[in-house]
Amino acid sequence: MRQEQQNGRKLKFHILRFNPQIEGDKPKMVTYELTEALGMTVFIALNQIREQHDPSLQFDFVCRAGICGSCAMVINGKPDLACRTLTSKFPKGEITLLPLPAFELIGDLSVNTGKVMRAVSERIEGWIHDKNMGEIDLTKMEVTMDPDLADNIYELERCVECGCCLAACGTKRMRDDFLGAVGFMKVARFLMDTRDKRTEEDMYEIIGDDDGIFGCMSLMGCEDFCPKDLPHQHQIAYLRRKMVTVK
Ligand code: FES
Repeated sequence: MRQEQQNGRKLKFHILRFNPQIEGDKPKMVTYELTEALGMTVFIALNQIREQHDPSLQFDFVCRAGICGSCAMVINGKPDLACRTLTSKFPKGEITLLPLPAFELIGDLSVNTGKVMRAVSERIEGWIHDKNMGEIDLTKMEVTMDPDLADNIYELERCVECGCCLAACGTKRMRDDFLGAVGFMKVARFLMDTRDKRTEEDMYEIIGDDDGIFGCMSLMGCEDFCPKDLPHQHQIAYLRRKMVTVK
């Protein structure tokens, strides 16, 4: 039965079509029908729609393996990665696709996450800060790091910047300047990293207000819809505890 459902079933895709570059274009939902194949993902289906129905359909992808974060979109009401979402997940065979909210629309299902992620990186200065690093000496021994700390940093580095956390965030939807979970995750990562000499006071200057950690309403959409299952709730609580004690 399962095999039958995945192989040969008719699927209906309801997709928002809108190209803001075309003067006078209006947003509309367009339905496309496809035959489901075994192991089909939403990403594969979108490629087929583009090949068989409409080559002008816009959506993003790079890796097709849940690594680049490009293919995030709203799939049946939930932000997720198209390349990691099997069509067999939807027993009714009806799939509605919308672009991620909270980002500038490029066209159809394609949004400009890069612009937002770059702004996040610039705002938090997302690189190791160490004024005493001095001249680079290639003959110097590498400074070792505690393996548990390295593991903890690596866990937070798994973020693929897909934007699902921002699209699912009630605060971000109300307040454009809200940093959001992707930024908090990075701040926590640098605060944890002993090579970064920024203090909690320095980080307070970046996230110690309503556009930062105190604006979070704890709705936890970020945690619920992160396709990489990152511990957003834990990190937000960690940062809040750190920031309330800054004098
Ligand atoms: S195409 Fe890279 S995450 Fe989906």
